[in-house]
Amino acid sequence: MSLRRELKQDIYAVGIIDWDRRLFDELVPLPDGTSYNSYLIKGSEKTALIDTVDPTVADVLVRNLEELEAGDIDYVIADHAEQDHSGSLPRILGIYPRAKVVCTPKCKDMLMDLLLIPEDKFITVADGETLPLGNKTLEFIHAPWVHWPETMLTYLREDKMLFTCDFLGSHIATSDLFVTDEAMVYEAAKRYYAEIMMPFRPIIRKNLEKIKDLPIDIIAPSHGPAYDKPDFILNAYRDWASDEVKNEVIIPYISMHGSTKKMVDYFAEALIERGITVKQFNLSEPDIGKLAMALVDAATVVIGSPTVLVGPHPKVVYAACLANALRPKLKFVSIIGSYGWGSRMVEQLAGMITSLKIEILDPVVVKGAPKEEDFIALDKLVDEIVNKHREHNIIKTKA
Ligand code: FEO
Repeated sequence: MSLRRELKQDIYAVGIIDWDRRLFDELVPLPDGTSYNSYLIKGSEKTALIDTVDPTVADVLVRNLEELEAGDIDYVIADHAEQDHSGSLPRILGIYPRAKVVCTPKCKDMLMDLLLIPEDKFITVADGETLPLGNKTLEFIHAPWVHWPETMLTYLREDKMLFTCDFLGSHIATSDLFVTDEAMVYEAAKRYYAEIMMPFRPIIRKNLEKIKDLPIDIIAPSHGPAYDKPDFILNAYRDWASDEVKNEVIIPYISMHGSTKKMVDYFAEALIERGITVKQFNLSEPDIGKLAMALVDAATVVIGSPTVLVGPHPKVVYAACLANALRPKLKFVSIIGSYGWGSRMVEQLAGMITSLKIEILDPVVVKGAPKEEDFIALDKLVDEIVNKHREHNIIKTKA
């Protein structure tokens, strides 16, 4: 089976829909699969392939190109060195020996290290450099750190198409070549942003700024469907990458014997009564991607954990380390939970989130089951969150 489709005249999607993949980097859940998009551009004089595909499906890319009767390939544009896009390069270079790999200097170094591609196979391009294909012209826009240091975007001037690789993409397997179901793709793109792009939020903003005056009819990422209404994804990224936070409290928690759960439920209801949106995540069977998505917008996170051998529960440790690595724009954090005989949970958790520029609100950690005074302490924490959200104009009107 093979699949190749025309996006515009002489521009073909030759990549692969991976319906079955459920994990990326052995870490990121892919509940809806993904795709590895590769695009063939046939100019009047030269032919370029933009990105390849994951090496596990290289055969399908090869077949797509053969069945398209693409002819020779002059250039393979490597917008990103990560193997889900570059991994089939050695195979393609073997079949099309004339082809040169076009990429940033940094990407060349990485591809030589990762895939052992010989140096004479490369043409490196500077920011803003162009490459003529005859009646079509490629322009290269360096866009480092989306999400590796070597990344670039490729702009096809005559067709006003921007090829963005991971940037603006979504992990979703769909037969749609272009977005048709915006709600579905918004969810998938937000999950993708949260898991992959969020740690680079200030750089994402710079790269959005860099392309803001570019006339764009189509954005073609290397995961998920292409956007023929580019503002849909550009506006979503502007929102996610902005400094604006929402009047939301995320409560990732776990409970072993019910005490922490009692505290979490009481606390969540008290927040909801005060008009704050609550997203509660039980970490015993988490979709860590859902938690990452919630962290894109929220002002506050309150971690709920029992004490295990004086520290936080290991599943809470995992979530805290992940949040620390993803560096969301959170402003406030607190901790609630219970212990049996002693706890150093608060100090240990605080030491795990040092990358977050965040204010720590007084935690509520209680001995055994929560008692009346503990619920009063939880009420005080709710008051403090409401006040902080007001002070920072996160609550726009008086609650
Ligand atoms: Fe889709 Fe960073 O690879």
